[in-house]
Amino acid sequence: APVLKQAAIPRYVGAALGQGHLQNATDPNFRTIAAIEYSGATPENEMKWEIIEPFQNVFNFTPGDVIRDFSRAHDFTLRGHTLVWHNQLAPFVSTLNGTDLLHAMTNHITKVMTHYKGQIFAWDVVNEALNDDGTLGPSPFLTQIGPSYIETAFRTARAADPHAKLYINDFNTEGINNKSDALLAIVKNLKKENLIDGVGFQSHFIVGEVPTDLQANLQRFVDAGVQVAITELDVRTTLPVTQAAAEQHPKDFAFVVNACKAISDCVGVTTWGITDLYSWIPGTFPGMGFGLLWDDSYVKKPAYFSVLETLEAH
Ligand code: G3I
Repeated sequence: APVLKQAAIPRYVGAALGQGHLQNATDPNFRTIAAIEYSGATPENEMKWEIIEPFQNVFNFTPGDVIRDFSRAHDFTLRGHTLVWHNQLAPFVSTLNGTDLLHAMTNHITKVMTHYKGQIFAWDVVNEALNDDGTLGPSPFLTQIGPSYIETAFRTARAADPHAKLYINDFNTEGINNKSDALLAIVKNLKKENLIDGVGFQSHFIVGEVPTDLQANLQRFVDAGVQVAITELDVRTTLPVTQAAAEQHPKDFAFVVNACKAISDCVGVTTWGITDLYSWIPGTFPGMGFGLLWDDSYVKKPAYFSVLETLEAH
C-alpha cells in the first residue's frame, strides 16, 4: 500500500513524537504508524528547556535521545525543537538577570547542540519571538538581554553545529500580515550575516481558515534566501464535528501540502502528532479537536487520503 513518506519524496513528511507515546507498551500503533508512514520527526517536548536543562548546567538528554534513536533507526529527518522560547522554561531561568541570562542562554544552545551535533537536520533556534502586531513578544530573553538576543542565539548556534540548518519558527505567520512582515525583516537581517537557513511555519490552523496567500507568503521568504518548512501542521475544529467541517478538513490539508509542493525550497511538512487521541488541541482549546490525520482509534481520516493523493499528484 502507498504510504505518506514514499509519496512525499523528495520532501520529508514528519510528525511530532512524544517519548511517552513512542514507548507506550499498551499502544504499539503510535510507533508503528510513525515508522511506516513518516520520514521525519520533531520531539514534541523532549528537547525543550524545562526537560533538557531542568537545573542550571544540569542536562537531561535521555528523553530527547529516545526521539533521536527512533529517528536514526528509521532514517528520519530530525528537527530540533526548540532552543530559545519563553514557554516550557526551567524555573531557574526566570531568576537570572542581564548577563547571567545571556550566559545561560548561550551555554544552553552550545551544550544542547553539541550533544546532538551532526544528528539534527534543522534546529528551531528561536521559537515564537513575535506578537501578532509584529512587535517582539514577552520573553525573559527580550527583557533581560534586549532584542539582540535573537542574533546572539543564532550566532551561538552557528558556532555550535555548523552543519545544522538554523530556523526561526512561529505561528500566525503563514499568511501575509503584520507578524509575517516583521518575521521577514528579522530573517533578512540574520541572512545578511549568514546566521539563518530556514523559517518554520507552524500552521496550527482552524478548519476553513487556512490563509489563501500561504504559498505567496512562503515564496517571499524563499526569495529572501532561506528554505521554508511546515513545522507543526494540524487543522482543528469544534467538536462534535459538523458535516461541513468534516468535508472541509481534507481540503485544508491538501491546500497546505500543495503550497509546500509548489515551492522547491519548501523542504517538508510536519504534522503536530499522529492521532487525535494525543493531540495538544483539546487541552489548550477545550471543545476543539480533530486536528490530525488519524482519529482517536487510529483509523485513517479523509484528510490522510487527501494528503496522500496530493503528495502523489504530479
Ligand atoms: O509531563 C507533565 C506531566 O508530568 C504532568 O503530570 C502533566 C500535568 O499537566 O503535565 C505534563 O507536561 C505537559 C507536557 O505538554 C507534556 O505532555 C504540560 O502540562 C503541557 O503543557 C505540555 O503541552 C505542550 C505544549 O507545547 C506546552 O507548551 C504540548 O504537549 C505540545 O504539543 C505543545 O507544542 C507547542 C510547540 O512546542 C510550539 N508551538 C505550539 C505547540 C502547541 O502548543
